[in-house]
Amino acid sequence: MQNNSEINSLDNKGERLQKLLAHAGVASRRQAEQMILEGEVTVNGEIVTILGTRVQLQDKVAVKGKLITVPAEDLVYYLLNKPTGVISSAKDPQGRKTVIDLLQEVPQRVYPVGRLDYDTSGILLLTNDGELAHRLMHPRYGVEKTYRVGVKEKLSPSALDQLQKGVVLEDGKTAPAKIREVSRLAEGPLNLIDITIHEGRNRQVRHMFARVGYPVMSLKRIRFGPLELEPNLSQGKYRKLSKPEVQALQRAVQLV
Ligand code: URA
Repeated sequence: MQNNSEINSLDNKGERLQKLLAHAGVASRRQAEQMILEGEVTVNGEIVTILGTRVQLQDKVAVKGKLITVPAEDLVYYLLNKPTGVISSAKDPQGRKTVIDLLQEVPQRVYPVGRLDYDTSGILLLTNDGELAHRLMHPRYGVEKTYRVGVKEKLSPSALDQLQKGVVLEDGKTAPAKIREVSRLAEGPLNLIDITIHEGRNRQVRHMFARVGYPVMSLKRIRFGPLELEPNLSQGKYRKLSKPEVQALQRAVQLV
């Protein structure tokens, strides 16, 4: 949750509380504003009386103690192959294209599960299932993500070793990662390495590789938990997840 004073300095993501309540069919926008002002609305257990407070998909919003949820039959799940040059939050104050703009034929209000940088491509999940999204992003569940990283030179054994054991970044040491060399320079312009991590720090992979002396030239997420990026889903394309895929995600975060 962000309060009004914070929203201008942060990127303009999330949805205004009164708008969310109106969309959830709780009340009209005006009535929702009144409910907020009267202290009837909580976000994650705290009463919120500031109009315009922004909430994220994973925030728990309740009115008079009753949780606002999307009915199970209306929950939807999509996998997008995010192209580079698109931002992964739902809205951009600078007016750049967002991943939501790519989901033209999705009528539901869905939100991205976590983030990929503007210049990163690959798997991005979008859903209106707040609980699943929350767990998939929560460090407690340690959902693994694999990134295919392109660098200009072949990594030294020492760099590979450091990446594997964890490198010290500004916000502390990274957890051990799994590393696999995919191709050597002779096969293409870049040396490709797959790295699997289960943390989700800001620009983590780029910072890790820079730290060991190899700036990232290309970055694509090829696996998110149990889901892999299939070669026939080209960049910018998306598809609905199947029931077994949703169940696999739920299992990964102990929801079933
Ligand atoms: N790590 C990064 O550096 N960027 C991403 O988009 C995802 C993980």
